[in-house]
Amino acid sequence: MNSPSEFEQNEKIKTEIVGSAEEGARIVAREIAGLITNKNSQGESAVLGLATGSTPVPLYRELIRLHRKDGLCFDNVITFNLDEYYPISSNHQESYRRFMQEQLFDHIDIPPEHIYFPDGSIHREVVFDYCRQFEDAIEQAGGIDLQILGIGRTGHIGFNEPGSTRISRTRLITLDRVTRQDAARDFLGESHVPRHAITMGVGTIMEANRILLMAWGESKAEIIAKAVESPVSESVPASFLQEHTNVSFLVDDAAASRLTRIRYPWLVGPVEWHNDLNKRAICWLSSKLDKPILKLVDEEYSENGMATLITDQGPAYPLNIRIFNKLQHTITGWPGGKPRADDSHRPERSEPHPKHVVVLSPEPGNDMLAMGGTLERLENQGHIVEVVYMTSGSLGVPDSAAGKFAKTLVEAAQGLGSDWEAQVAYAKSIIEKIENKDQFGSDSTEIRQLKGLIRRAEAREACNECGIDHDHIHFLDLPFYELGRYRQFNLGEKDITEVEDILERFRPHQIYITGNRANPISVQALCFATFEKAFELVRRKASCHQTGNVWLGSKSPWHQACNVWLYNSDEHRCLPYEIDMAVPLSPLQFAQKEHAVSQHQSQCFQTEMKTKRDRETALLYDQLGLAEYEAIESFQRWSPS
Ligand code: F6R
Repeated sequence: MNSPSEFEQNEKIKTEIVGSAEEGARIVAREIAGLITNKNSQGESAVLGLATGSTPVPLYRELIRLHRKDGLCFDNVITFNLDEYYPISSNHQESYRRFMQEQLFDHIDIPPEHIYFPDGSIHREVVFDYCRQFEDAIEQAGGIDLQILGIGRTGHIGFNEPGSTRISRTRLITLDRVTRQDAARDFLGESHVPRHAITMGVGTIMEANRILLMAWGESKAEIIAKAVESPVSESVPASFLQEHTNVSFLVDDAAASRLTRIRYPWLVGPVEWHNDLNKRAICWLSSKLDKPILKLVDEEYSENGMATLITDQGPAYPLNIRIFNKLQHTITGWPGGKPRADDSHRPERSEPHPKHVVVLSPEPGNDMLAMGGTLERLENQGHIVEVVYMTSGSLGVPDSAAGKFAKTLVEAAQGLGSDWEAQVAYAKSIIEKIENKDQFGSDSTEIRQLKGLIRRAEAREACNECGIDHDHIHFLDLPFYELGRYRQFNLGEKDITEVEDILERFRPHQIYITGNRANPISVQALCFATFEKAFELVRRKASCHQTGNVWLGSKSPWHQACNVWLYNSDEHRCLPYEIDMAVPLSPLQFAQKEHAVSQHQSQCFQTEMKTKRDRETALLYDQLGLAEYEAIESFQRWSPS
């Protein structure tokens, strides 16, 4: 193991930052393959501890690939899974047992009798003994050689929630509220998420010879920083891993973004100060001291690890003013640019006006929640706004919402006489299908279609609140989503072509999109990846066209003229120093936005469908000493890498 660099001095766990989840998955899969081969050559079994959830999905795909392409054999592998919801039947759509079958076991040659799994369907009275037997089975297998882990936002490993002790063993636990909220989307409502789980204990996990924890996406950034840098504490169970002698974390850039070496590099080593870093450091100092930027003084810079900045670029006051002005210039009530105005300090150029604007929304509602106020502004300021819903969002509609809709249709139709017979028959067949649906089964095509229609109707209503005409609302129903399920989506050519067509058709001056720092297998991240690929294709085609089919790698005029703005998602919210455009909302505009968001009624079970983040951003700007607004929607500039 290389010794940690100066920059990693705060890190008490070896943490490798990888370029992508796929790259991380390849590294982990290679280590697993090495272990299996090594054990095989010694005539022994390789004992793996496995995790579920979205994090290990790329790893399992890579293991399947190694099995198929390189003949990696799992004959001598014994697996123990970390945890299972309780109570739950093993064929429930969301049971971890079913997840493992679908994501890995069904595709490799592991003997079924080598698979050990906590059973979520056993009787409560026997759980205690059952857990002891699970521990005995691990011991009989010779202990776990390599344990794979993900991490929950609460800091849980397995389902060892905050409060779990260092010596805890396999047992029944009560799930944390945050964990149940995180699972609410999968179970279509928090109330459907089981309250308990059976999990290996922290002590059980710590006995593994080697531990690899993976984390992808920005929603894991805060807890990764705590687990790696904070003192060991029961309130962050993953921090116990600091006491293990052979553990590594693999994280992508987004999940690493709150480590001190990434976020506050000036605190751990020498840095070259530049505009962006100055802005970040000064915002940090202001919030640390709870003092507006313009009131910071030289001594405060020096006493807080920023002495070199003040030496290089001080004194404090002009530096404060420079950064203050930069932040001030992000604020605009003209997200599409202010026509005929001097735009040298505005986030968006003034010409042309009106602009053609394309808003790409991965699922209906993402757009409204993050930028409902901006949408309304763009429309009112005369721009031509096209809202494009990339997926139908049908998977996010509870049965109860679809059933309610179908029942209303029956009632309305029956009250109106016999012309409606076909509709009545249709609605009744839906109700029947929902009622007879296997408790753990997937939706039929008809149910998914209806759910998709419900989301279309909601999206139209919400757009209507912002003044956007129905002719400018587009539904792509990308095939990757229609043909898949959460955690089992696969992007295809057709997805990219659909988005490419939209870009070609509108050749927009502005694009709004989200999902760049999201968990790579989430719908938002997949939609962003689709956009990125489509954008690149359009760019190449345009350039080839101009140069007689020779790709020169230069930007075409169309792309030079197109600004891409990233809006916030439930996984990523810009911090003040990351914001390139801040669109303030008045109390009335904020109320209107909330009304527009509330049109997405089928999503009211989602805790993320809250607009409070706009208020928090406004508060952060206020605390830096900028103007005090009711709410702010924020955006970051994006350009292709
Ligand atoms: C699952 C498990 C959990 C997950 C964690 C992260 O077996 O043990 O600790 O690893 O909840 O879940 P995802 O990967 O879905 O973010």
